[in-house]
Amino acid sequence: MREWTEKNRRATLAVDRTAMAEIAVEFDDHIRTQLDARRGRPATDPTGALLEERLDGRPLSDEEIVSIIRNWSVAELGTIAASAGVVAGFLARHPDVQEQLRADPGLFDVATDEIQRMNSPFVASRRRVTVATEIAGTPLEAEDRVYVVWMSANRDPRVFGDPDEFRLDRDPADNLVYGRGKHYCPGARLARLELRVLFEELFSGTIVIAPGVQAPVPARCPAGGWSRLPVRLT
Ligand code: HEM
Repeated sequence: MREWTEKNRRATLAVDRTAMAEIAVEFDDHIRTQLDARRGRPATDPTGALLEERLDGRPLSDEEIVSIIRNWSVAELGTIAASAGVVAGFLARHPDVQEQLRADPGLFDVATDEIQRMNSPFVASRRRVTVATEIAGTPLEAEDRVYVVWMSANRDPRVFGDPDEFRLDRDPADNLVYGRGKHYCPGARLARLELRVLFEELFSGTIVIAPGVQAPVPARCPAGGWSRLPVRLT
């Protein structure tokens, strides 16, 4: 899956649509192999449970199951990898915050939401306008395509005051790291748990996480976070 994610990331960055289509088929074939291994057996994992799921009395088609699993796994792998880098990079450059979190792990979820507000691992989502409307003085027609740039909204000075300032007392309702509305990230709680476990382990095996000698390289949009982040673990 890691190899696949890396290939997919490279094709997406290069906007190589042929490669992207081929890589998507590769993923679908991989999931179908997993489904074949589970057919006709009692479910022992979420993939098997999807084979037993009923929608309006009918089983889900392979295409539907592949699509669900694609959403869940691809949505997770890239964002979690990016967010681990975003948090590690911030803590390396802010030893005072790192010390605070090492001393009081209870602050971790609020702190990582705030760190990601400033440098979102998930940059933007696409939307199609369904009815003519106006947003902040800009008229939009039905069928217009728009980018919802979470990263930009998360730094709106009208909402956050000084958006570059790290603060643990901001209103969580303003934070758009995991989106908003009916497409709000269903993996938000899992993402927070994964980050907590990762940094618990990192903290327990180190005294300090510090910046590496080489400069970090920011990822290029549409990817968020860093494409390379050297850190020193002591
Ligand atoms: C720090 C990590 C993560 C960030 C920053 C993040 C961010 C987001 C955002 C902003 C959206 C909204 C997209 C939209 O409205 O168009 C979203 C949706 C989604 N996320 Fe996450 N996510 C993360 C981790 C995860 C994980 C761990 C999973 C699954 C295990 C996951 C699964 C999904 C899925 C399936 C959707 C689509 C929901 C829908 O369209 O209804 N995400 N995520």
